[in-house]
Amino acid sequence: MNDQAMIQDLLERATEARNNAYAPYSKFSVGACLRGTMGGLYAGCNVENCAYPSGTCAETGAIAAMILAGESRISEILVLGPDDDHLCAPCGSCRQRLHEFADAATPVYIYGPGGLQLSTTLGQLLPYSFMLR
Ligand code: THU
Repeated sequence: MNDQAMIQDLLERATEARNNAYAPYSKFSVGACLRGTMGGLYAGCNVENCAYPSGTCAETGAIAAMILAGESRISEILVLGPDDDHLCAPCGSCRQRLHEFADAATPVYIYGPGGLQLSTTLGQLLPYSFMLR
């Protein structure tokens, strides 16, 4: 499978996830898909709550699915936002959560419905990240 086909499978899973997002408050549905280093794909969507801070991001759901499946290292990250006018970059908390299981060089692909918006790395999104000793 070539690189583009591999990103395509992440995009398909993130699209399915975004279609199931629960975002009645923000109306900002997000899907994410992670590829584990063992090859598994783990999707997540945002799940909001009427007590707003209790909501969770798509990336957080995808990390939970990966850990549940027994994987703990990420080789690729794809985030799919709801529109092409905004770059749906992972929030600060999710950058730190992703950092726990990925490397500075791990690719991060940010998509909108119209296609790829930004291809970057976790290290570019979260330089000088926190590490416990
Ligand atoms: N959101 C995500 O799911 N991932 C991100 O990377 C940024 C923001 C969600 C949280 C909330 O449900 C909605 O987008 C608006 O902030």
